[in-house]
Formats: sequence, structure tokens, C-alpha cells
Amino acid sequence: MIPEAVIGMLACGRIGAIHSVVFGGFASNELASRIDDSKAKVLLTASCGFEPGRTVQYKPLVDEALKLASHKIEKIILYQIPNNEVKLNPANEISWDESLSNAKNVDCVEMNSNEFAYILYTSGTTGIPKGIVRDIGGHIAALKWTMKNIYNIDKDDVWWSASDIGWIVGHSYIVYAPLFKGCTTVLFEGKPVGTPDAGAFWKIISDYKVKSLFTAPTAFRAIKKEDPEGKFFSKYDLGSFESLFLAGERADPDTIKWAESLLNVPVIDHWWQTETSWAISSNCTGIEMMKTKYGSACKAVPGYNVKVIKPDQSIAKPNEMGDIVVKLPLPPGTFPTLWNADERYKKTYMTNYDGYYQTYDAGHIDEDGYIWIMSRTDDIINVAGHRLSTGAIEEVLSEHQSVAECAVIGIADKLKGQLPIGLIALKAGVQKDNETISKECIQMVRDKVGPVAAFKTAIVVKRLPKTRSGKILRGTVRKIADKEDYKMPATIDDPAILDEIKQDLIKSNILK
Ligand code: COA
Ligand code: AMP
Repeated sequence: MIPEAVIGMLACGRIGAIHSVVFGGFASNELASRIDDSKAKVLLTASCGFEPGRTVQYKPLVDEALKLASHKIEKIILYQIPNNEVKLNPANEISWDESLSNAKNVDCVEMNSNEFAYILYTSGTTGIPKGIVRDIGGHIAALKWTMKNIYNIDKDDVWWSASDIGWIVGHSYIVYAPLFKGCTTVLFEGKPVGTPDAGAFWKIISDYKVKSLFTAPTAFRAIKKEDPEGKFFSKYDLGSFESLFLAGERADPDTIKWAESLLNVPVIDHWWQTETSWAISSNCTGIEMMKTKYGSACKAVPGYNVKVIKPDQSIAKPNEMGDIVVKLPLPPGTFPTLWNADERYKKTYMTNYDGYYQTYDAGHIDEDGYIWIMSRTDDIINVAGHRLSTGAIEEVLSEHQSVAECAVIGIADKLKGQLPIGLIALKAGVQKDNETISKECIQMVRDKVGPVAAFKTAIVVKRLPKTRSGKILRGTVRKIADKEDYKMPATIDDPAILDEIKQDLIKSNILK
């Protein structure tokens, strides 16, 4: 989250190169899989990054990824963070400063509108990341339109998206949309709490006269936890501030109401995905403000024809639950394909419901057209607004030599929305103690997926609950962990296992 990272992205645009930004919280393994899939020619990094309480050394992470990747990167450009300089290999590594000192000015390259601006990898249902691609023309047209119509931002306004450029929110609303609109964007290398305190957001808004802020609900839950009475808030003048936008995960009504009463401005929950790059549903503040319904992400934005479909392919009636889909064609700016994977694109998104894009979100639309996003229909979970695949974590756990089988589920968490927990059943005859195995599994996920997975719980269980056909009953276990009502699945192989799991969850302090 330093200016050089954004300059790097824009420099790619200038010369017509495709960029792919990788979030710093991923492990080398994830970076390697992105290098292999994208076949990148040049890698740009910084020597390190700063997280509250620790410095993340990026160079060793990158070195390890380059070792793991089969594709060979030609050149590495590294920005030396002051006082954290690292040694470079002169054969193919060059510092940012040195590369600038040798650089010549080049003109912008003219591109066709349907060529690609970037690839952004996102979690799919397996460990193989999906490269969402963005075309140039549709991207510019759509994002520029959203700044005024959804966010009510004009050219002279100051806009702040408190996300990270490693995510879609950062791509669209830290870097590109403000640029297309010509307004000022704030790039914040910090967190809502702990850098240095729960007043950081209010200080930035007040110092830079920010008109609107866009962040994830988890950021507000973090502030609320540290400063429930808003003591920090009262220290700053927020006269410039007009609205708060939330997305990335379900915004719980309590958080929205708390933010509204503290800030005294509209708090708008809107829904979108890496695939679309801009909001599918929102209160469009630049067109006409609609009434807030707490828990709903408001109505479809112009360009999206959103429907709810039932398993028998019929369109759901108002308030009936089902899969949320968007009628084709999708509007400009949404993904035209997956990087080098046209078939996967069609099969994953466009096949299950003929003529519709499948969002993999489930919910309902009410009688007034308000959209209610309730859950994912695949194995994706949302941890502090970060999109993760439980399948990818399971793949890592399965590699542990003592693990026979495993299940990862996302359980409700007051701060991060969801947190992954793993249930692991061991191979027969394993001698190692459970605690050691559990610690090793946690470390493996950190090493292979990254700290961003926030994977801190791996419970050794005797066996996993399954259907008679062998499908693990992850949904039922999640309901037990979240103390939700559940029906005993008719196809369950051995109902007694659910009780065993319940006891294990109690012992591990997950279920209180
Ligand atoms: N580089 C390296 N590591 C990173 C990182 C980065 N860019 N971002 C996060 N991490 C690490 C963190 O240091 C942490 O590691 P740890 O296990 O050693 O503590 C781990 O990944 C999990 O990070 P995070 O999910 O951010 O949890 P947190 O406890 O550090 O902070 C919040 C909690 C709520 C303050 C934080 O998640 C936040 O600010 N969220 C805002 C939401 C957001 O920006 N979402 C993006 C999509 S819109
Ligand atoms: P990402 O691609 O990382 O932006 O994650 C997209 C997913 O986050 C969506 O498919 C939803 O599951 C979830 N999501 C995003 N915004 C919202 C919202 N406003 N309400 C509920 N879920 C949301």
C-alpha cells in the first residue's frame, strides 16, 4: 500500500501491459501459482511491508515463490523501503530507484477497448486460483459512471476507499475509478485500529476533508470493539463527510446502526464481487436515495437484471430463497472471461442456469425489489472481508501425513464475520499426539495459503459426519458450531457422529 505500487499498476496501463496484483498476506505458494498461471514477465515488489506489530519481509517470500514456480520471471524490480533494504542479485534484480534513473519517457500505447487491463486472481472452489480479467473500455465506462451515480462523487471531491490494492475494491476504488473520474483518492497504509488507535479513520477524514468512505463492515466492527462509545470520533471535525459505503461481506444491521448513529450520515450496504468489479446492487446516492432496509444490500444497479432462481430453474417469487443470478448479457466492466480458461468461465458461471450469470450467492428479493444476500452456495467464506476458499485450506490439511480426511467450515465471528476452522480425522495407527498434529496443520495453512486465512483452529476428531454416499456434512457441522437449528439429514450415515463433533467443538471452546 505504497504509492509505488499504484504507480506500477498505472505504468502497466501506459505501456499496454497486463498487471496482476497479489495481496501481501498470501504465502509464497499462492504467489507461485499466480506466477505460473499468468506467465508474468516482470515482478515488482517492495523489500517489506508493515503490519501492526511486525514487519513482513517480502523479499524472502518472493524468492521462495520464484523457486516454487515453474515459470521463470525475467526481471525483478524492488522498491527498497528505507531502513529495510535487502541485497539484490545483479543478474536479474534491480532497485526501483535504479530502474527510474535509467528510464526514458514513453508515450501511452493505444489499445483496443476489449484488450485486457489486468488479471486479478480470486478464490475458486479449488486451490487453483481463478484469474478474473478486466477489459479496458468497459472498465473505464462503467467505473467512471459509478463514481457519480452510485457514490455521488464529483471531480473536485476527496474519496477514500479503505481497502488494499490486492483486492478488487482496491483496484476499482483506490486506483481506477477515482482516476477515471478525476477526483482525489486516499491511499492509506494502515488499519482501522492499532495504527495507532481507533481514531485513525476519523483523523484521515478530517485531515483530508474526505466526502465519502468505502470499507468493509469488519473495519467498523473493529472500531466499535475498541471504542464503542466513539470517544475518538468526538476529537475530530468531520464536517466534510457525507456518506459511508460498506461491501465485501454481509453488513450486520447492528454494525450499520452503530455507524449511522455515530457518524450521522447515510450508511449504505452494497453488494458486488471481484467478477463484476462494481456494485450489482446499491442505493445509488447520485441518482436518488432510497429507503434503507437493514440487512439488505438495496436494489439492482442500472445495468444488472438480478433474479432469484430455484433449483427447478423457475424464478422465485418475492421473498422466496434461491440462487441469485444476473440475466445475460452482463454490463460493461464485468469479467469477459477467465485468464486462459474460457471453458472454466462458461462451465463455472454460465452453464447451471441457462441465460444467466451465477453469482454463487444465495438470498431473496423482496416485494419492493430489495436484494437480500444471505450466504454463498459454494465453499467460499469471507474472513474480515477477504475471500477465501475452504476447499483450498482442505487441500493443504490433506497433505499432512497423519491426516486421513478433513473438513473446513467458516463459523460466525463477531469481528471478522467468519473464521475458518478445520476438523481433521487421523489415519489409523498415528502415534503423534493430537496437539502437535493440530499445531502442524495450522502452520501448514499459514505457510501455504498465508496469514490472511486467519486459520487458528484445527480440531482432531474421531470421524467426520457423512451421507451414505460419502459426502461430508459441512453445512450441518457449521450450523452446530453456530448454534443454529438444523435438521438431521435424512441421508446421514451415522447420526451419532454429530454428537461426537458437538462434544469436540465444546472441548475446543468453539461451542460454549
Ligand atoms: N501483508 C502481509 N500480511 C498481511 C497483510 C498484508 N498486506 N494483511 C494482513 N496480513 C496478515 C495480518 O498481519 C495477520 O497476520 P497474523 O496472523 O500474524 O496476525 C493476518 O494476515 C490476518 O490479517 P487481518 O485479517 O487483516 O486481521 P487482523 O487481525 O490483522 O486485523 C482488521 C483485523 C479487522 C483490523 C482487518 O482485517 C481490517 O482492517 N479489515 C478491513 C477490511 C478490509 O480491508 N477488507 C478488504 C476487502 S474490502
Ligand atoms: P469479493 O470477490 O472478494 O469481492 O467477494 C465477493 C463476495 O463477497 C460476494 O459474492 C458475497 O458473497 C460477498 N459480499 C460482497 N458484498 C456483500 C454484501 N454487501 N452483502 C453480503 N455479501 C457480500
